[in-house]
Amino acid sequence: MAVNRIGLLTSGGDAPGMNAAVRAVVRTAFVNGIEILGIRRGYNGLINGDVFEMEHKMVNGLTGRGGTILYTARSPEFNTEEGVKKAAKNCKYFGVDAIICIGGDGTFRGALDLAKHGIPAVGIPATIDNDIACTNYTLGFDTACNTAIEAIDKLRDTMQSHERCSLVEVMGRKAGHLAAYVGIAVGANVILVPERPYDFEKDVVQKMRRTRIHGHNHFIVIVAEGVAETEGGSQNIADKIAEETGVDARVTILGHIQRGGRPNARDRVTASRMGRHAVEILRDGKVNRVIGIQGGAMQDFDIDEALAMEKDLQETMYDTARILSLS
Ligand code: F6P
Repeated sequence: MAVNRIGLLTSGGDAPGMNAAVRAVVRTAFVNGIEILGIRRGYNGLINGDVFEMEHKMVNGLTGRGGTILYTARSPEFNTEEGVKKAAKNCKYFGVDAIICIGGDGTFRGALDLAKHGIPAVGIPATIDNDIACTNYTLGFDTACNTAIEAIDKLRDTMQSHERCSLVEVMGRKAGHLAAYVGIAVGANVILVPERPYDFEKDVVQKMRRTRIHGHNHFIVIVAEGVAETEGGSQNIADKIAEETGVDARVTILGHIQRGGRPNARDRVTASRMGRHAVEILRDGKVNRVIGIQGGAMQDFDIDEALAMEKDLQETMYDTARILSLS
């Protein structure tokens, strides 16, 4: 199948590095004589025909910009058969031979739907959750970790001065990769993630008491968004901590600050490599793939297979956090 024109969209939660991937796709396509049609606001743009021709000049200086110039959205209409049909029809109308979609698992499910309606697709993994199983790394994760670390380092200063406990909620509704990495990096006393059940008395209260015996006068507790939701909110957890330990516990929800900002070196470079790889496999006739990076090498997987894979927290990460927090 000859690919002359590729539709390009970003979808789901934005992530630092998305723009660098957009740039890489546009530049690689230009070098290969392929046209790029930019699609605004994810699958919504495909349904509504919100598209524009992308010239290579439009992506100048984009590697270092956060967010996505294509805008992003979660599209309830695309979750309907009607919506997918409309999107596929528009692809044909605009002469789009294939789609490159940049986002997370919801984005790839959308790509699979399009593929089933005859529009080939390739996915580039970008989410600060790092929860795509076919790749060791998803765009945005490292920058988001660093954003959270910088904020928590500041919190630690004030917690130390006041001898308080800082409960920090980081993003991740279903995945605790961000919480685990950030927790290890800031030397958290407690890390709570959705993938691992915990016992409040043993894993939080007793741990804090033990830490105090070892001379600590302040505490950092990292809670993933998904755990906070299950517990009726981070404030509830902080109130319980204060009640059980007598330590003043303050809540900080880092929220969307984690998704913004200039991508760091890892995100810029990985995005550039993934964007290039996505265009080149389409050029070479490979379709319906999700790009991944493993052991530093670019790879690609069948979308179906990629979506069926599961990614658990690395046990070594969890163990490292446990040992270093003296438990
Ligand atoms: O998937 C990325 C993510 O930031 C999750 O960690 C979080 O649960 C979700 O998006 C929040 O999405 P929204 O910005 O739409 O509320």
